[in-house]
Amino acid sequence: MLSQSTVDVVKQTIPVLQEHGETLTRHFYQRMFEHNPEVKAFFNPAHQQAGTQQRALAGAICAYAQHIDNPSALAGAVELIAQKHVSLGIKPEHYPIVGENLLASIREVLGEAATDDIINAWGEAYGVLADLFIQREGQIFEQQEDTYGWQGFKCFLVEKRERCSDNIESFYLCPADGSVLAPHVPGQYLTVRIPTADGGTTLRNYSLSNRPGEPWFRISVKREAGQGDVPAGVVSNYLHNHINVGDSLEVAPPAGEFTLTLPEPADKPLVFIAGGVGITPLMSMLTVALEASPAARPVVFIQAALNSAVQPFAGELAELAQRYDNLRLHARFSAPLDGDLQAGRCQSTGFIDAPLLDELVGDAYAAWYFCGPTPMLQQVRQLLKARAVPEADQHYEFFGPAQALA
Ligand SMILES: Cc1cc2nc3c(=O)[nH]c(=O)nc-3n(C[C@H](O)[C@H](O)[C@H](O)COP(=O)(O)OP(=O)(O)OC[C@H]3O[C@@H](n4cnc5c(N)ncnc54)[C@H](O)[C@@H]3O)c2cc1C
Ligand code: HEM
Repeated sequence: MLSQSTVDVVKQTIPVLQEHGETLTRHFYQRMFEHNPEVKAFFNPAHQQAGTQQRALAGAICAYAQHIDNPSALAGAVELIAQKHVSLGIKPEHYPIVGENLLASIREVLGEAATDDIINAWGEAYGVLADLFIQREGQIFEQQEDTYGWQGFKCFLVEKRERCSDNIESFYLCPADGSVLAPHVPGQYLTVRIPTADGGTTLRNYSLSNRPGEPWFRISVKREAGQGDVPAGVVSNYLHNHINVGDSLEVAPPAGEFTLTLPEPADKPLVFIAGGVGITPLMSMLTVALEASPAARPVVFIQAALNSAVQPFAGELAELAQRYDNLRLHARFSAPLDGDLQAGRCQSTGFIDAPLLDELVGDAYAAWYFCGPTPMLQQVRQLLKARAVPEADQHYEFFGPAQALA
């Protein structure tokens, strides 16, 4: 429990955090990687390069300061971060490293403005937040052990590899020790650890794209090709170029809080909007939603893609539409190939817009699940705001550090 004077001092720092938060977190990461190189491998270099992780941490620190007298308002954000930390294997012993580097960064960036009062108050406040994370993360590690039978990284073998579109490959993964897999929660992701050229390792999350309860975990990975000065993505290219049937991969258990809750009442419509490879968690959710819902529940699945060459899971979706009368599928291509529309490979062209949602969902009071590139998420958020969809009915995931969606 923080004293009132600590709360007051932390709150006084909000304007400076709003103005200099990202400068602070940029400095913090540089400092931490210099002083504590042992934690560097946990972090995705592309997120550091793009500045998205620095922005996410600055946002989290600011939000904490704003809600310091009522941290329960941050429960959703805490859960997202805790699940991410667990997926990457962050442990209690890492918190003092972050704490020391963060306080030193506040001193170094703010200079004389960082009074002893400010440093002491943030030291205390950081301790309370760290304890909150450590406690929740401990519970999640235990749940993983109880549900999936392992924590940390374990060896899996590639049982099957399958082309999913011109740039997406699916990998079917079975435990090398022959153990039986517990069903994952639809929407969860795995973490894959691969060796890097410099002798280290690097980690990435991949959503499970299969129906829970099958004898394998399936991940479906888009190749990040790179172009000109932009280097090709490290892990997606490693998987596409080097991982074949019979090869092994180190995998950490399913984690993540973007999971499906079937809405009440049982005839409340469910709407899924998938952009590109962002379809993966939604494929898993869709199978469960269809199997567990009565025929009275309308299920709308909108797939946004460039065109048929890079459209994943077209066959699987068509099979589900054949089996379930309550499923309405709609593919919308933003850069269709000649003949895509005429051949029925998509139902319309362009980006997701209000007339499309009106046509497919009407004014129904639905639950919405969406995942895709940032511009699509921003667009869908705007459209749902215009439709006055409550926050509680909007569920979405970023394939990177979460950002505020205006
Ligand atoms: C919860 C979650 C679930 C996910 N699920 C999936 C999934 O199901 N399928 C999937 O394919 N992905 C998924 N991702 C994304 C995945 O984790 C990886 O981020 C993705 O595969 C790219 O990793 P990479 O190592 O290939 O690319 P990275 O090496 O991490 O690079 C990322 C991007 O940045 C570019 N880049 C790299 N360096 C630079 C630079 N110096 N300057 C400019 N650009 C640069 C690369 O070209 C690439 O496009 C998910 C992510 C999260 C967080
Ligand atoms: C109170 C302390 C902490 C806060 C407020 C915090 C906050 C965050 C936030 C906001 C994210 C982005 C989540 C997302 O949207 O993906 C994140 C990710 C991450 N955090 Fe923390 N964190 C804390 C402690 C730690 C510690 C102790 C470590 C261990 C070194 C750590 C390592 C990571 C890593 C590796 C990621 C993923 C980064 C990436 O994608 O490259 N964090 N954290």
